[in-house]
Amino acid sequence: MAKIRTLGLITTGGDAPGMNTAIRAIVRYAIVKGLRVMGIHRGFCGLMAGDIEEMSLRSVGGILNRGGTILHTVRCPEFKKKSYRNVCLRQIKRHRIDALVVIGGDGSLHASREIAREWKIPVMVVPASIDNDIAFTDYSIGFDTAVNTALEAIDKIRDTAKSHERIFIVEIMGREHGFLALDVGLTAGAEVVLLPEAKFKISKVIKILKEGIEKGKTSSIVVTAEGAIRANELAKAIKTKLKFDVRVSVLGHMQRGGSPTAMSREIACKLGVAAVEHILRGKKNLMMGIKSDDVIATPIEKVVKTKRKIDIKGYKMAEILAK
Ligand code: F6P
Repeated sequence: MAKIRTLGLITTGGDAPGMNTAIRAIVRYAIVKGLRVMGIHRGFCGLMAGDIEEMSLRSVGGILNRGGTILHTVRCPEFKKKSYRNVCLRQIKRHRIDALVVIGGDGSLHASREIAREWKIPVMVVPASIDNDIAFTDYSIGFDTAVNTALEAIDKIRDTAKSHERIFIVEIMGREHGFLALDVGLTAGAEVVLLPEAKFKISKVIKILKEGIEKGKTSSIVVTAEGAIRANELAKAIKTKLKFDVRVSVLGHMQRGGSPTAMSREIACKLGVAAVEHILRGKKNLMMGIKSDDVIATPIEKVVKTKRKIDIKGYKMAEILAK
């Protein structure tokens, strides 16, 4: 394989707290090891437009504790088109980029698989997503921060729910997956947790809440992933059946922002460095991951083909502990 001199670095898809920490780790480690790093701004749309700039040790100073991504990010469905990817490849060649590191979630992984198949440069993925829906890594960068952000919000909601003796429906991000909602529901002690992966009936939710009231509960929290049922819809249904004050709180994009927790930062540092190391060792087309505290690397193709499964034990546990 030709000698790697220049690394391209890109953040794509939804942002996640800790992306900046990963950018800093990748840029600094690569430069210390003698590589040039070209920062690609605004995801694959930016790549297509040639929105590319050389990064330096100083250009990543003071960012490790900041949420978001200094490279900016865009969801770029156009990248699914071969003709679009070809234009992107021309930019890669023009800027003499001979390896690429992609920081992002599930969509970024799929895009990286196309790159791995079509472009003749190694591509490494550093998983970053508050959804934590990627296989072959216990955690994605940003997940822990999002859990803690939602938890802090629910702890506060619980105070007011108790004072007013109300039921609160809290909507958590996660269109397709409930990994975030499950961890938040378990750690916040929610009376009911609803996930896109687990079938449920509204009548069962009402039954659980009713039983809680009969057992002396004066307030309750229902955590729902946005992909399970929208909070407003559920609140409407509950209001028709229970003589209880019901309120809704949609946490929304606040879960994607904020200063990354120590855990999100640690993962970002470890996975970022590992991505550069693998490139320097001549490896290709891998996703970095954390398994039981160790860094592992898995072929992108294999990761894309594997579905991460919801922890049913954790789901049942949340249900029992909220009795
Ligand atoms: O993938 C992360 C995520 O925050 C999902 O949980 C959510 O459904 C989606 O992104 C929202 O995307 P957007 O910011 O494009 O509305």
